[in-house]
Formats: sequence, structure tokens, C-alpha cells
Amino acid sequence: MCGIVGAIAPRDVTPILIEGLRRLEYRGYDSTGVALVDGNGQLALRRAVGKVARLEEKLTAAPCSGAIGIAHSRWATHGGVTEANAHPHVSGGRIAVIHNGIIENYEPLRAELLERGYVFQSETDTEVIAHLIHDCAKTAGDLTRAVQQAVARLTGAYAIVVFDAQVPDRIVVARIASPLVIGLGEGENFVASDVQALLPETRRFIFLEEGDVADIRRDTVEIFNQQGEAVTRPEHVSSLSADAVERGEYAHYMLKEIYEQPRAIADTLSERIVGDHVLEAAFGPKAATILPQVMQVHIVACGTSYHAGLVARYYLEQGARIPCTVEVASEYRYRNPVVSPNTLFLAISQSGETADTLAALREAKKLGYVATAAICNVPESSLVREADLSLMTRAGPEVGVASTKAFTTQLAALSLLGLAVAQRRGIDRRITALYARQIRSLPEMVEHTLKLDAQIKVWAEQFADKHHALFLGRGPSYPIALEGALKLKEISYIHAEAYPAGELKHGPLALVDDDMPVIAVAPNDRLLEKLKSNLQEVRARGARLFVFADPNTGFEPGDGIEIMTMPDHIEPLQSPLLYTIPLQLLAYHVAVLRGTDVDQPRNLAKSVTVE
Ligand code: G6P
Repeated sequence: MCGIVGAIAPRDVTPILIEGLRRLEYRGYDSTGVALVDGNGQLALRRAVGKVARLEEKLTAAPCSGAIGIAHSRWATHGGVTEANAHPHVSGGRIAVIHNGIIENYEPLRAELLERGYVFQSETDTEVIAHLIHDCAKTAGDLTRAVQQAVARLTGAYAIVVFDAQVPDRIVVARIASPLVIGLGEGENFVASDVQALLPETRRFIFLEEGDVADIRRDTVEIFNQQGEAVTRPEHVSSLSADAVERGEYAHYMLKEIYEQPRAIADTLSERIVGDHVLEAAFGPKAATILPQVMQVHIVACGTSYHAGLVARYYLEQGARIPCTVEVASEYRYRNPVVSPNTLFLAISQSGETADTLAALREAKKLGYVATAAICNVPESSLVREADLSLMTRAGPEVGVASTKAFTTQLAALSLLGLAVAQRRGIDRRITALYARQIRSLPEMVEHTLKLDAQIKVWAEQFADKHHALFLGRGPSYPIALEGALKLKEISYIHAEAYPAGELKHGPLALVDDDMPVIAVAPNDRLLEKLKSNLQEVRARGARLFVFADPNTGFEPGDGIEIMTMPDHIEPLQSPLLYTIPLQLLAYHVAVLRGTDVDQPRNLAKSVTVE
């Protein structure tokens, strides 16, 4: 998704901007650009289609430098992937603008500005903002006022960063529904869409709130709310380390992140289970009053986080004996749902900035839920700031677009939620103590499961030339099959689908032949025998079966069936998380064999901050 970086400093800011873009690369983008005010007071603009490296090549061919500058990585929404559509967009050779989000009323504004004589160079909604600010600046007498007047006319979602080359003493920013953070330095200040971009420069951050406009100069930061009143916003010191996003010895971020899972899960559980008890305070100060009232949970999320929600349904229904429903956020927000009494609304999101999930949370706040809660990986995110309760997954920054450690830490956090609710519901202490022990041993079990990597790499060779794959599971293994199929399609571009194995004969069996590998998730649970019958149906149609199974499940390798044996003693509560690991590795190795861009798959973005 789009990335923003800006800086005003007593030195050349070009390296800060380029490093910031590089640190946002993982979010996905298709073109980049930078605008600076050079030593002669002229606006210098460089833009390129493709990766940050292409922009760097342009800067080497035609160098520029300056003490004030803005840079952007674009993920196309309005207009194709071209250099003309890349940001920054400029009006009158002086106003430079970068923008994340979507302006919904850009067409009437564009028509109005065309009539007023502005000439458009691109097909983007962003260029409208540049001309509108330019137009307002003619009478406002001050860039901050011009931006305030301009944004008052915009509808939609935006984070905007602007400078005026004729008055290069400030950067002005504004946001609604798209994240924007100010980084505070000594005699220099910065702005970005994500703290990651600025960690080499500062750890001190101010998060702008909805409707804020800020005037950022070298020594001062002034913030105004939507009503134009001067306000102060708290300063946060980030605990993230600048090198948390380095790849180290691993060939890809995704592989590094798969191998980080034992540590990430241990961190997520750390200090939250004491003895056999989940500490409710981990969910925030209001947890002790809210959790006792919860009789039902409605979960909303997107993508991989949605799959975590589907697993959580089993934790809450089977473990804590309360009803749980799960839904994708893009559907929920337009559904006009009927809310049962004492229902907790739970949003799950790695980034905490996914537009649909955030909009769903905001909608939910109007609907009479007992409370809202977030399970999220980014403490400073909008989702966490706006939910009543939150539990942070401590996965650390996830760079690979295909989510891995964020998913398994979500499962760990959701198992804690299930246990916390079970405790409150008065479920037998012996049972909750057993769950607690099973949750605590997850990091070690993941470590064992990762040892399957070499075998999985060999299996991957049988998938590399395939066009389709079918994943099967039952019960809580069905969402894991969904997640396995999603991983494979995201990074290898093999069409993959997942089905609850019992549904096989209602359609997908028609597709099965010897060219369609079928992957089955087969833990030793109460549905094992049912699954085995379903797999017989597949084998009878000549498909090649790849079964991930517990030891002693009675599967025999043979003609057309290969078995990968999981570590010993996996309990039902643990199996969704543990069976995820080999499916991640399978997708990874298949993608590497096919030579795709594992960390930044085509057309996808890490954080989808537009609807
Ligand atoms: C994008 C990412 C996925 C992620 C989904 C939801 O599609 O590529 O990996 O699962 O967004 O993101 P969230 O940050 O809300 O979990």
C-alpha cells in the first residue's frame, strides 16, 4: 500500500527519504517519487515506475538535494501504474503533494479546477489536492490555512503531506482515516505513514488524530484539530528497534518470519499466563469490568486475520462455551447487523490500519455491543487506540506481504482470550489448567515442527509445475486449510482452494484428477475417521494426496499418497497453530522454485488502507 515520508532538517534530507521508502517497501507499491526544494529554491521532482532502486537510479543519473522534501511509494487506485501518476504531484511549479487514501469527490473537484484553468498531468485523485491547495494558497496567505481550507472540501480517506517551494520553511500535513505520524528530532522533524520509516532518525513520535492538520517546521510542530483549534497530542517513545526489519542470513523476509515464530509466540504469551491463569489485565484496564459481561463474541477481520478468527470460534465455543460468529470486515460494515445483548465485538488485524476492519470497528461502536476489542500487532495503530480492550500480539514487524508470524501470534493471543473467557465463565479449573499448559508449550512445539522444513522442501518439487491445488481440513483444521491455500496462491500464483472435506462431494470432487495435488490437514482429533473417508473419495479419482498427520493416525504412504508426520503429542487446542507451520513452508518453497517475488507478490499490499 502507499507509503509516505517527509523531512525538514538543516541537512540534505534525500538519504532520509530514500531510506524511509526502503523501510516501507514491504507494504507493497508500484511506483515511487521524491520532491525537494533544491539549493536554488527550485522544486526538484524525480519519479519512477517500479522499486525504490529505480528511483535511486534516477537520482544517480540526475542528482538533487535539499533540506526539505517529501517522498512516496504508490499502490495504484486511480489511474494506471505510470510515472505521470506517481506522487509527488505538483501544482504551479511550487505546491508538492503526496497522498495516501482515496478522495471520493475528486471528479467534481477536478471539473471545477479545470474550469479555473488548472492543467492536469495525471489521472490521479491526488493531483486534485495539489491544485486545490494551490488555489486556496492564493488567498489564504499561509500554507497551513490553505491546507485547512482545501481539506474541508475533500471527502474520503487521506493522509496528505505538502510543501510550498516558495515558502520552504515548513511541511504541512493532514489526515482522515489514513495513518500519519510525526517524528520529532533535534532541530529537525519528520513525517511518515508508519514509524518503521523513521526509526533510524528518531524514536519520538506524535500520532495525529482524525481531522488533524499539522504545521511542521525544523524547531516546532503545531497541531490543529478539525475545528481549527490548536491542540496538543501526546508524545510516544517507540520501543521498536531500527534493525528489527533487517533480513539477516535468510533469503527472504518470509522465511525469517516463519523461523521467528517460536520467539514471537513466546513473547505473545509472556507475562500473560501466570501458573495456570490468564491475567485479564493483559487486555487493558477495562477488562475486569467488561469480560464478566461477555456472553457472545462477534469477530471481524480481513485476509489471514479472518482465518485466525475462524479458528478462534472453536476456542470460544468449545473451550469457553459461548457463541461466536466470524465475518469478513468488508461485508460486515455494510450489513446493518442485529446485535444480541452482551456481545463483544472483536477486530483482528496485524496492522491495525486495514480500512475495512477499522470502518467495521467504528460502525460497531454505534451498534450497542457490550464493548469493542482488538487483537493487533501494532500498539500505536488506529484500531488499538479506538477499541475498548486490546491484546497485542508481539510478533514484531512483519515485512513479508504474506502473513506468517502475525497469524500464529494471533492464534496464541486468541487462545488466551478463550481461556480468559473460560475462567470467567466458571469452566472447571482442571480443564482451564490443562488448556493453560497446552498454550504454554506452543513455542517449543513450533520449534519441533520447523524441523520438517527439509522434507517439505522435497515435497515442494512436486507442486512447482502445477496450476491448481486443493486443501482439505475439517473442524478447526478447515481454517488452517484456508490459510494454507491463501499462502500458496499469494506467493506462488498457483490457484489454490480450500474446502471443508465433508463438502468435497458437493462440487470440488469434479475438479480432482491426477494433475490436481490435494493437501490434507489430518490431526488426530474426533473428525479423523470422517476425514479419512473423504480422502478415500479423492484417491479413488486418481488425485495425488499429500497428508500432514499426527503420528499413529494410521495413514500409510503408498502409491498416490504421501504422508508427513507431525511431532508427537499435539493436543486439539494446539493443532491449528502447529499445522499452519508446514503449510507456510510448503508455500514458501514452492514459490522459491517458481521464482516468484516471495516477499512482495504481484498486486498485493501488506497493509490495505483503502477500501
Ligand atoms: C492484506 C495482507 C494480508 C492481511 C490482510 C489483513 O491483504 O496482504 O496479509 O492478512 O491485509 O491485514 P491486517 O493488517 O488487518 O491483518
